[in-house]
Amino acid sequence: CGIVGYVGPLSAAPSPRPVDVVLQGLSRLEYRGYDSAGVAVLDQQQVRIDKRAGKIANLREAVAGHEASDSQVAIGHTRWATHGAPTDGNAHPHRGGKNGELALVHNGIIENFAPLKAELEEQGYLFRSETDSEVAAHLVAREMEGGGTLEAAMARVVARLEGAFTLLAIHIDTPDRVVAARRNSPLVVGLGEGENFLGSDVAAFVDETREALEIGQDQIVTVTADDVSVTTFAGEAVPEPTRYTIEWDVAAAQKGGYPSFMAKEIHEQATAVADTLLGRIVEGRLQLDEMSIDEAVLRTVDKIVVVACGTAANAGNVAKYAIEHWTRIPVEVELAHEFRYRDPVVNEKTLVVAISQSGETMDTLMAMRHAKEQGAKVVALCNTRGATIPREADAALYLHVGPEIAVASTKAYLGQITASYLLGLYLAQVRGNLFADEVAAIMADLEQIPAHVQTVLDGSAQIEELAREMKDATSVLFLGRHVGYPTALEGALKLKEIAYIHAEGFAAGELKHGPIALVEEGQPVFVIVPSPGGRDSLHSKVVSNIQEVRARGARTLVIAEEGDTVVEPYADVIMRVPATRTLFAPLLTVIPLQIFSCELATAKGLDVDQPRNLAKSVTVE
Ligand code: G6P
Repeated sequence: CGIVGYVGPLSAAPSPRPVDVVLQGLSRLEYRGYDSAGVAVLDQQQVRIDKRAGKIANLREAVAGHEASDSQVAIGHTRWATHGAPTDGNAHPHRGGKNGELALVHNGIIENFAPLKAELEEQGYLFRSETDSEVAAHLVAREMEGGGTLEAAMARVVARLEGAFTLLAIHIDTPDRVVAARRNSPLVVGLGEGENFLGSDVAAFVDETREALEIGQDQIVTVTADDVSVTTFAGEAVPEPTRYTIEWDVAAAQKGGYPSFMAKEIHEQATAVADTLLGRIVEGRLQLDEMSIDEAVLRTVDKIVVVACGTAANAGNVAKYAIEHWTRIPVEVELAHEFRYRDPVVNEKTLVVAISQSGETMDTLMAMRHAKEQGAKVVALCNTRGATIPREADAALYLHVGPEIAVASTKAYLGQITASYLLGLYLAQVRGNLFADEVAAIMADLEQIPAHVQTVLDGSAQIEELAREMKDATSVLFLGRHVGYPTALEGALKLKEIAYIHAEGFAAGELKHGPIALVEEGQPVFVIVPSPGGRDSLHSKVVSNIQEVRARGARTLVIAEEGDTVVEPYADVIMRVPATRTLFAPLLTVIPLQIFSCELATAKGLDVDQPRNLAKSVTVE
C-alpha cells in the first residue's frame, strides 16, 4: 500500500492544496497498490473522507468539486488488499471514534486485530469495514477521549499492536498536525517551506521537495506546517533524525513519451547499468566504498545465501553462477519466504545477500533478520535509499538505477545483476581468488555492457512485431542452460505478470525429463542460446535441445549471439545480442524477453504498468 500525508499553513480562505498534494502523491505511489484509494481532511471541525474502489482516477472523480476545505492537513492511501475485498468500505482512510472524530490510514497488517476489535465492539464502537486497520482508528480515537495529545494517544496504541504498520492519523481536536508511527513498514518525511509531507517513499512528494528525513523503526513522528518532531515508541526524543537530499530527477518518474513506464524503464537500461557501475570502477580498478563489512570478516565467509523474491530472486540465480565462479564460495539462492521456515544452516561464517529493488519487501526483510539473529552478516543490493532492508543490513550496495514505477521489474533487474557482479568481484579480490589485473580485465568487459544493451534496444522493432503477431498465444515456454536458465525463468515471469499468459521457464537439460510432453504442433518456445565461444559444450547442448523441441512441432524463437550461424537452421525466429562473456550474457539476453512481454501486453490492451492483483512493493508476509 502507499500512504501520503500533508500539513500546510493555516489560511484564511478554503484551499484545495492539501487534497491536491495528497492526490498527486497517491498517483506517484499507485504502483504500491491500486485496489482502492481515499483521502481525508478536516472541514469545519469535521472529518471528511472520500474513498473509492478501483484506481485513483475514481477517487479524483469522487473528490472533484469539493477539494477546497479549511483544512491544514490531509492524509491519503492507495491500497493493496490483505484483509477484506477491495471495496469502497474497506478503502482507507478509516474513521475512528464514536463521533467519527479521527481519520487514519494504515499500511501493513495488525496481527492481533481480532481481540482488539471484540473489545472495542463491546464498548460500542461501530465497525464499518472488514479491515484490521479500523481497530487502530478506533483505538487512537478512544485514547483521545480523555484529552491529551494525539502523539501520546498514538504512543499508547502502538504499544498494544502486533504486526507491521505505518499509521497516519488526523483528529478534529488537533487540526494543525498529522501524527504517524511506523514498525516494519516504510515511512519518510519530506521537508518543505512552511509545509511538510509524509509518504511511504519519497516518490510521494518528490514534486514538492527534495529534502527528506528518514524515520527509524519503532518511531512516532509529529508533523506540523513548520516542525517535525520524532520520538521512539517509548517516548524518548530522537534529537537528530537523518536528513538527506533526494537525487532522483522528477522527470525520471514520468513517462517521457513512452506508452508505459515499463517501456520507458526497459529503454533506460543502458543508462541503468552504467549508473550501477558509476564511481565503482576507478582507473580500471574496482572500488566499493560502501562495503562496510570488515575485509577480515569477508575472508572467513564459507557460504553465501542469497534471499530475494520475484524478479530479484531471478537476479540472485544469475549472481550464484558469477559469485561461485569467481570466489569458489558455495552460493545458495533461496526465495526469502521459504528460507526462514526451514531452519536454515546459517552462522557467523555465512554472508547473506538480500536483493530487493524496493528494500521493503517484508518476506526478504524477515529472512534477513532471521539470518542476522544467527550471526550472519548481511549485504543488501537495493535501489531505494533509506529503505528498511539497506538500513538494517551490515552493508548496502545501491543500484542507482533511479525510480522504477512499473510493477514488473526491468531496469532494477539489470541493476541487481550488475551489483551482484561487483560484489562477486570484490569478494574475489579481497579473498585473493583473482589478481587485481584479472579483476580489471573482467571489469573492462563489464564496462562495455551499457553499449551492448543499447544495441539490443535498438533492435527492438523486430521483437515488438513478433509480440503483436503472437498476441493470442495461450502458452509460451522458455528454455535456457547455465545463466540462460534464470533468464528463462525471468522471461516466463514477465509474460505471466503483465500479459496473463501461461508461461514456464525450464532448464533446457530438464526438458527430456518431463516438460517436453507439453510440446505439440505450433507451441512457441523461446530458447536462450549461450555464446559458441563460451565454456565446454554448453552451446552444442542447447542447440540439441532446440532440435528436440522442433522435431515435435515447436516454433522456436531463438536468442543468440551475433555471428552464431550454427543455430540458424533450427530457429524459426532469431534475435541477436552482441557477444560478451558468458557470465555477462544475462544482462543482454533478457532484454528481448522484456520487450516481448511489454509489447504483447500492450497489444492486448492491458494495463502494462499496473497488472491485476500485483503490487510493486509487498510489505506484508
Ligand atoms: C513484488 C513485485 C515484483 C518484485 C518482487 C520483489 O512481488 O511485483 O516485481 O520482483 O516484489 O520486489 P523487491 O522490491 O524486493 O525487489
